[in-house]
Amino acid sequence: MNNEFFSEYEYLSMAAYFHAENLDGIANYFHVQAQEEHFHAMKIFHFILDKGGKVELQQIAKPDVMFKSNIEVFEKALAHEQRVTKSINDLMDEAIKNNDHAVNSFLKWYVDEQVEEESSASKALGKMQIIGGKGEGLLFIDQEFAQRTFVPPAA
Ligand code: FEO
Repeated sequence: MNNEFFSEYEYLSMAAYFHAENLDGIANYFHVQAQEEHFHAMKIFHFILDKGGKVELQQIAKPDVMFKSNIEVFEKALAHEQRVTKSINDLMDEAIKNNDHAVNSFLKWYVDEQVEEESSASKALGKMQIIGGKGEGLLFIDQEFAQRTFVPPAA
């Protein structure tokens, strides 16, 4: 859960970077991503409560605030999603080891979601690489990413 809240922070930091670059459409892409992460965290929050557990919130680490280029932001976003996938897989390994069917079933949603998360981060990075992270192409990407909206995923 903390990792998902941290992801929200990471993407807000990336949104702030693009606002400062006057690329509000790309910033919007990361705002929507941050909203998705908040949704992911809250889904775990409610699951813990539903299972009779105690939610004890921890400190959230400082997100990355140093980005050298537009492309690097997207590289870091993809690398971040790959780390999240690993942490979900580790949790799933633990659930399987403990024969915890409820947690196993709950985590399947995240396993599937991570396939989508990595795919969309990879495609966004690919587009940035095609245009070399600059020039007129950046304005096209900015316009495209301005259209992204948050749609709560099916639970
Ligand atoms: Fe919650 Fe982007 O994974």
